[in-house]
Amino acid sequence: MKILIVGAGGAIGKIVTAALKEHEVITVGRNTGTIMADISSETAVENLFKQVSNIDAVICTAGDSATDNLSAMNKAQFMVGIQQKLWPQINLVLAGMQYLNDNGSFTLISGKMGELPVKGSSGKAFVNGAINSFVMAAAQEMPRGIRLNVISPSKVSDIGGDELTEAYVRCLETAINGKIIRIGYNNKR
Ligand SMILES: NC(=O)c1ccc[n+]([C@@H]2O[C@H](COP(=O)([O-])OP(=O)(O)OC[C@H]3O[C@@H](n4cnc5c(N)ncnc54)[C@H](OP(=O)(O)O)[C@@H]3O)[C@@H](O)[C@H]2O)c1
Repeated sequence: MKILIVGAGGAIGKIVTAALKEHEVITVGRNTGTIMADISSETAVENLFKQVSNIDAVICTAGDSATDNLSAMNKAQFMVGIQQKLWPQINLVLAGMQYLNDNGSFTLISGKMGELPVKGSSGKAFVNGAINSFVMAAAQEMPRGIRLNVISPSKVSDIGGDELTEAYVRCLETAINGKIIRIGYNNKR
């Protein structure tokens, strides 16, 4: 498969990229990767898909959010998550579904705080919840057999063995669609 991995140079991206060596992987980041593109820019995303043809899968392991105690949160902090994690991933799907090969797949990233938040996590939690909801809804309308799933990991340090990489392989190689794959939720809290 030809796979675009956005955020391949990050903590999660490195683990995923290392596990997909048998595939043709194209890594993407703002400052790192085979192709440099900032996915918070719609123009950059459009250019990215125009540059690379014949893509079977897009994996996104990129996206920032800002959080603090609720009383200290302001609009700017909530907007970080929307502008740097939620909209870029929605836009990757909207733009990319026109370019992806038939029966291709998108695998987005959210996080445990979307479903099991702790105090001080509102700035992360709402973004992760929105990404999960987007995936469940949008997966039903993907064209040409393209599938859309989301990995919702716990902290990388709480994830055991090959749990993470197995989840990505499942999203790439099985028929699952519209699923939230929860990783490491029960390992530690
Ligand atoms: N690490 C965890 O324990 C954990 C747990 C649950 C959920 N998550 C979620 O998983 C995602 C990745 O986390 P991480 O810890 O692996 O992050 P990270 O180590 O900071 O890595 C993020 C990667 O994404 C790239 N990136 C960031 N923004 C980008 C953009 N706008 N356009 C293109 N590339 C971009 C970065 O490369 P450049 O700097 O070159 O752009 C970097 O390679 C985040 O959304 C995080 O909330 C992480």
